[in-house]
Amino acid sequence: MTELLKKAYDPETFRKQGHELVDLLANHLQKVSSEKESLKVLNWIPPDELYATWEKRRIDQPNSDINQFFKTALAETTHLHNPKYMGHQTSVPLPASVLAEFFGGFLDVGMGVFEQGNVGVVLEKLLAKKLAAKMGMEVEKADGLFTSGGTLGNLTALLCARQVMIEEDVWSNGFSEKKYAFITSEAAHYSIDRAVRVMGMGEKGIVKAPVNERFQLMTESLEDCYEKAKKAGIQVLGIVANNCATAVGSNDSIDKIADFCELKKLWLHVDAAHGGCVLFSKKYRYLLNGIERADSVIMDFHKMLMVPTLVTAVIFKNGNHSFQTFAQKASYLWDNEDSQEWYNLGKRTFELTKTTMSHRIYAIWKTYGEKVFEENVNTLYDLGKVFAKMISAEGNFQMPVAEPESNIICFRYLEKGKNEVELDELNAKIRGAILEDGEYFILQTRIGERLFMRVSLMNPFTSKKQLKGLLDKIKAIVKELN
Ligand SMILES: Cc1ncc(COP(=O)(O)O)c(C=O)c1O
Repeated sequence: MTELLKKAYDPETFRKQGHELVDLLANHLQKVSSEKESLKVLNWIPPDELYATWEKRRIDQPNSDINQFFKTALAETTHLHNPKYMGHQTSVPLPASVLAEFFGGFLDVGMGVFEQGNVGVVLEKLLAKKLAAKMGMEVEKADGLFTSGGTLGNLTALLCARQVMIEEDVWSNGFSEKKYAFITSEAAHYSIDRAVRVMGMGEKGIVKAPVNERFQLMTESLEDCYEKAKKAGIQVLGIVANNCATAVGSNDSIDKIADFCELKKLWLHVDAAHGGCVLFSKKYRYLLNGIERADSVIMDFHKMLMVPTLVTAVIFKNGNHSFQTFAQKASYLWDNEDSQEWYNLGKRTFELTKTTMSHRIYAIWKTYGEKVFEENVNTLYDLGKVFAKMISAEGNFQMPVAEPESNIICFRYLEKGKNEVELDELNAKIRGAILEDGEYFILQTRIGERLFMRVSLMNPFTSKKQLKGLLDKIKAIVKELN
């Protein structure tokens, strides 16, 4: 071994630097969660400027103090643990899960094959069974696996649906002349549309059902969507329910969609990337009523369940179906590609060398019990309702959904005399000013043609105080703009 390699693997250096890093992050957590007014979520630096800054730091001039790098990156990046972070739907990672990720990263055994991934592989099955049970599925029959994110989870589930539902063998032979589609709502996450296109089904591979005033799929339109597709020579394979839909956080009626799927013998997939978390909440579990009837479900643990990115559970009501998703030969890994051993996960996931995702969930569940998931979900969903009431009380804001079904709230500042386009511009300016100011972190989205500001309340440290602060900040920005 070379001297440099010996130095780089030195256990004592690892111990020292590891302790320093944990101290750095624990101090950071203490500082940002202590509600100090002056702390920014993000010191905004425009992309080109930030790139130039890091270029100047010269990667080709080594510095043996790795914590210098961590300290610099920490100072310049977005702080999700700050209670004023109300941005993208990624979790505010729980230290127990972060430690599990660190542990998994060190061991770094791939989850594709049991002979390497053993403990993580077993935990993956155990957790999938637990989730299936919480969904009310038949545990003996159900099964699942973890994959890198909801986008890949949706693609995995829909690939499986296609393989199970169609008569021709597209996996082996590609598509014939026949056309296929899935029905979903206009409010579905774009990953559904992307999955269908990746699968080679094209633009017509998605039939978009209209939504009601709460942005839920109008189940009474399903017959019409189905018949129109049929008339156009398109065979509908299944329906994707959105629980909840990303933009405004509304939930489709799974039960009603399941009734239609049963009637027409269609696959039911539930995209519960965000809202699957309510499985852990007695108070909000009703939002997933009927989920036990789904053929496949995805849920992200890196959204509402405090796990660092990316960990998505893909659950199948009939576990045997999951073996049909891929049927690839890989003789260096397994002797028999047709056998269905549950413990060689690479047969059923896109990834072969996959990180140990199960540790990150298990560490939380085992340390604090399911209750910690429940308390996080209830805290954040309750906070969504509180914020919506605060916005309504202001009078000069508009919300597409004034009684939210989750922790996602969209709202738009209204100013007399401005038309819709001018209001779009005003709201984009407000949001831009908030991002550059850095004290708060919120998003914007388009609903139909119109632009709204959007928060997803992901942070259990957030309280009414920060929500009021955000509204005050918006009003102050409007004053300045005028
Ligand atoms: C409903 C829904 N589905 C899928 C996704 C994609 O998940 P990921 O970002 O983990 O790929 C998201 C992400 O926000 C989502 O909200």
